[in-house]
Amino acid sequence: IALILDFGSQYTQLIARRTRELGIYCEIVPCHTPVDEIRAKAPRALVLSGGPASVYAADAPHCDPGVFALGVPILGICYGLQTIAARFGGTVAPSTRREFGAARLRQYQTSRLFAGLPEEFDVWMSHGDHVVQPPPGFTVTAQTEDALGALEDPARQLYGLQFHPEVVHTPLGRDILRNFFIGIAGMRADWNMQSFVEAAIADIRARIGPTGRAICGLSGGVDSAVAAALVAEAIGDRLTCLFVDNGLLRLGEFDEVLATFRDTMHLNVRGIAAGERFLTALAGVDDPEAKRKTIGRVFVEVFQEEAARLGQVEFLVQGTLYPDVIESVSVKGPSAVIKSHHNVGGLPETLHLKLVEPLRELFKDEVRAVGRQLGLPEALLRRHPFPGPGLAVRIVGEVTPARVALLQRADAIVTEEIRAAGLYDDIWQAFAVLLPVRSVGVMGDERTYEHVCAIRAVTSQDGMTADWVRLPYDVLHRISRRIIAEVRGINRVTYDISSKPPATIEWE
Ligand code: XMP
Repeated sequence: IALILDFGSQYTQLIARRTRELGIYCEIVPCHTPVDEIRAKAPRALVLSGGPASVYAADAPHCDPGVFALGVPILGICYGLQTIAARFGGTVAPSTRREFGAARLRQYQTSRLFAGLPEEFDVWMSHGDHVVQPPPGFTVTAQTEDALGALEDPARQLYGLQFHPEVVHTPLGRDILRNFFIGIAGMRADWNMQSFVEAAIADIRARIGPTGRAICGLSGGVDSAVAAALVAEAIGDRLTCLFVDNGLLRLGEFDEVLATFRDTMHLNVRGIAAGERFLTALAGVDDPEAKRKTIGRVFVEVFQEEAARLGQVEFLVQGTLYPDVIESVSVKGPSAVIKSHHNVGGLPETLHLKLVEPLRELFKDEVRAVGRQLGLPEALLRRHPFPGPGLAVRIVGEVTPARVALLQRADAIVTEEIRAAGLYDDIWQAFAVLLPVRSVGVMGDERTYEHVCAIRAVTSQDGMTADWVRLPYDVLHRISRRIIAEVRGINRVTYDISSKPPATIEWE
């Protein structure tokens, strides 16, 4: 294992992803983790991430000094480099001008970190401070026009990069990371999905035991489906899955996905038709957060009633992913609540169940790879993400059964046309939003006064940022024409051209 000490950089997760892409398993820990905890994980290499602070600032984050005596190779990136430099007697100072963006790096001392790389190559810089005086014993191995680019003390196994090898704008960054983990730290590239699946199944068996029983709520999405498939692989029918129809799913989705779970994945699954109950609870509720809370509360009630019918169950399976885990341990502290996404957060407490979270260490693309390894249908693995509160957050204002029906039909047309144009797999999410606004139209000789529907299609890596898709005009044209012709109650279609930030992906 390699450990990444997080000093608060926006790129820390990217370092972890790049490392795993090389076949090296790694985890992120907060920078101030005590050295004993770090030693207990027996890391073969450490990376000190970047961070927003200045090393001499009073509240600057530091790692446990014991980290430098562990005897494993350490790579400092940006702030990580500066913290090494400051600790070993170098000098760090604010740059006269911030270096941000592409830069040309020139090597002028051979370094194992740059083995096989050309003498000059492009790197991505993003820093205010830089090292003006390297610490005694360190060699500067590369330089950009404006600043020191890399330094090292191979005898003490300390390496530092001022630029960011983890971002795509450093095209050779991957080679540098490979040189560090494999060339310098002598690690083996043996992390792959098959080894993950085998280890995860063994862990699940050990945790649940030979007779324990578990329950899992399926949302219809990838994460819970893959988590359930892994646990089912480990304990068979001692896992019961519940798939709740909250009445806010896409058109035909409940039956389709239920059939996939049952017939293709052979899960022990119960479908619970509870749409009416959710829609009744939502009557008169128009605030987005109130909708989420209402849906979350009814979900817990329904889930609890069903769980009670199963008799003795000790474990709850959840598809928590690594980004959620990191959010909760990060040095940055909890960020402001923009939307309360975790609508099933109350389950473990109210049910007194022990959690099983087999995907806690994985990123989304790794979850898909595990799903593939387990033979899950490609159509399920590639499905666009769908919010837990479903169409409720795509109906601006009050949710009524009639509005859900309208939106389901408009949404189905969007998906059909996007698929027909061969664009589905290139898009993160594409959907329709029903607005409470009515507008005047004319159909034949008649005046109409009906709903406006907005189309939203975005690309994204992780849902944190997103850009609107430049859909071809003819695709937009077909979507608009079909919705207005086929969905009685909508007479106008608009296209949402906002990016995230400052807009969010969903309208509520
Ligand atoms: P936003 O709208 O915040 O969405 O840009 C980012 C991603 O999260 C999904 N989303 C949700 N998922 N419960 C969920 O499970 C929610 O309440 C929720 N709100 C948004 C959204 O679909 C997008 O993929």
